[in-house]
Order: sequence, then C-alpha cells, then structure tokens
Amino acid sequence: MRNFNRRKFLKTIGISSLAVGMAPVIGSLKVSKAAEEIDWFQNINRVKDPPTSMTPKEKGHAPSVQLPGAIKAGEPFTLNIQVGETLHPMTPTHYIQWVEVYLGVELISRIEFSPLCPQAKVTIPVSVDKTSTLRVMSRCNLHGIWESTKEVKV
Ligand SMILES: [Fe+2]
Repeated sequence: MRNFNRRKFLKTIGISSLAVGMAPVIGSLKVSKAAEEIDWFQNINRVKDPPTSMTPKEKGHAPSVQLPGAIKAGEPFTLNIQVGETLHPMTPTHYIQWVEVYLGVELISRIEFSPLCPQAKVTIPVSVDKTSTLRVMSRCNLHGIWESTKEVKV
C-alpha cells in the first residue's frame, strides 16, 4: 500500500468496469481521457454555490435528497434520493455506479447500479435519535464522486 495512488485506482475502476463489463456493448467507442475528465476524479465534488446557481454538472450529479415532513426521534422514515436535480442518465457508457448514505461517518446503506438500471433513484429507510446530518455520495463512471448533505430535524 506504500505506493497506492488513490486517483489512479479510482480512475482504473471506472475504466475497467467499462472495458470488462461493457466491451461487447460499446464496441469501438473510446473512453475519453480529456483533461477536464481527469479533474472529476481528484476530489469529492460538491455544489460550490447556493443551489440557485448550480452548474449543469452540479445539477446532473449532486445527490438530491427528499425527506418526509415530520420526523420523530427513533422512528424509521423514508429517504428518497435521486442522483442529480436533473436526473443523471443511465446509459452503457455514462451511468451512476453507486450511492452511499452516511449518518456522520457511519455507513447506513450502499446501493450499487449497473447501466441496466433505468434510473439513478433509491428509497431507503432511515432512523435517527436526534437532529443529525445525512451525507449522500454517488459515483458517476465519467464524472467522479459527488456529495450532498441534508440536515434531519427531529
Ligand atoms: Fe455523469
């Protein structure tokens, strides 16, 4: 692990998924290695400005989290997540690979997708004991990892 390069590892996973799993589907399509693409994998991406001025990439990738109106401490509620305010596409060459939900640093759920899943949406049950912050992360095979947070008030 001494020579572990996280960026190279993450990029390799995305490309190898395409190269191995989708080779018969994509045929002669090439995986772009434009400089712009490389930047997406250097950090966890977040919405930079208030939601009223989101860029198209932010609108298409930052997880959108919907909570029910009333939440009681210790009682399960339904968390609805879709990747992107503008729903991210799910095609053989451009798709969401997974969504993770954390309460603080604790993983609540991880949902994996293949390009065969028609929509990057999930619904999971969640319970909190007190007012807390949920972190939702998703990974696009071309545009890296995106994170949104949502405060849950009880
Ligand atoms: Fe994307």
